[in-house]
Amino acid sequence: MQFKQEFLDKLKDAKKIVFFTGAGISAESSIPTFRGKDGIWNKMKPEELANFDAFIRNPDLVWEWYQHRRIIVNTALPNAGHTAIAELEKYYDVSVVTQNIDDLHRRAGSTKIFELHGNIERNFCIECHTFYNSPELEITNTAPKCKKCGGLVRPDVVWFGEMLPQDEFSGGEKAAEWSDICFVVGTSAVVYPAAHIPISAKRSGSYIVEINIEPTELSRYTDYSLFGKAGEILPKIVEEVKKSKS
Ligand code: OAD
Ligand code: ZN
Repeated sequence: MQFKQEFLDKLKDAKKIVFFTGAGISAESSIPTFRGKDGIWNKMKPEELANFDAFIRNPDLVWEWYQHRRIIVNTALPNAGHTAIAELEKYYDVSVVTQNIDDLHRRAGSTKIFELHGNIERNFCIECHTFYNSPELEITNTAPKCKKCGGLVRPDVVWFGEMLPQDEFSGGEKAAEWSDICFVVGTSAVVYPAAHIPISAKRSGSYIVEINIEPTELSRYTDYSLFGKAGEILPKIVEEVKKSKS
């Protein structure tokens, strides 16, 4: 793959880089994306599963669905895209701002991660807010009860109509604003406020590079679009970095 010279020059000079990632980066780890032909939201109605009222109406159904996704995520492995991002920490100050709840960036070795939509491995009691990591709970297909107060325990993920965790969002936004290059990887960039992250980066003068198998809503704002699989393109970028830094 031949990258354009302007991008190679940016890679050479950059100090801080940010990755804004979505479900597409985990597609090559066999975790389904949300939109597109095999997307989760084609098969499931988000309003029946991914919101607080649905959970109160039918906690076991919602819990069972997240339990199903936990099993997929736990058996998945980080792919070459996640690993390439982690490897870039040798050369840059790297922040990862992710919409994914699958924990794969951390498992690949990235250390500075802002999780905008939560993490499926964490859960909390809706009454007393005690947190439980998934392995601490007796995982069954029925919604567990809090060991302290008996309240319902839910996954610590952002549901429709809920606020994003403010520290994660503002931390991610600052990282985007301070970045020299902002990579937008595997996201349709249609879900707000998360999709503000690359826009903030752009407004602050960061160089925006999109990696996706197809054009998105964001493509017209980007400085460089790379169309292809994240797990193939990102390792090639690492190779370029190694050449330029050696
Ligand atoms: P989407 O499913 O909307 O978009 C996935 C994107 O990844 C699409 O643009 C695909 O073209 C692209 N893609 C697929 N495979 C790829 C690959 N191998 N390499 C590169 N790109 C690839 O997922 P998100 O943008 O993450 O929110 O969705 C955003 C939010 O919508 C999610 O965090 C979730 C959902 O509702 C919540 O649950 C709060
Ligand atoms: Zn409790």
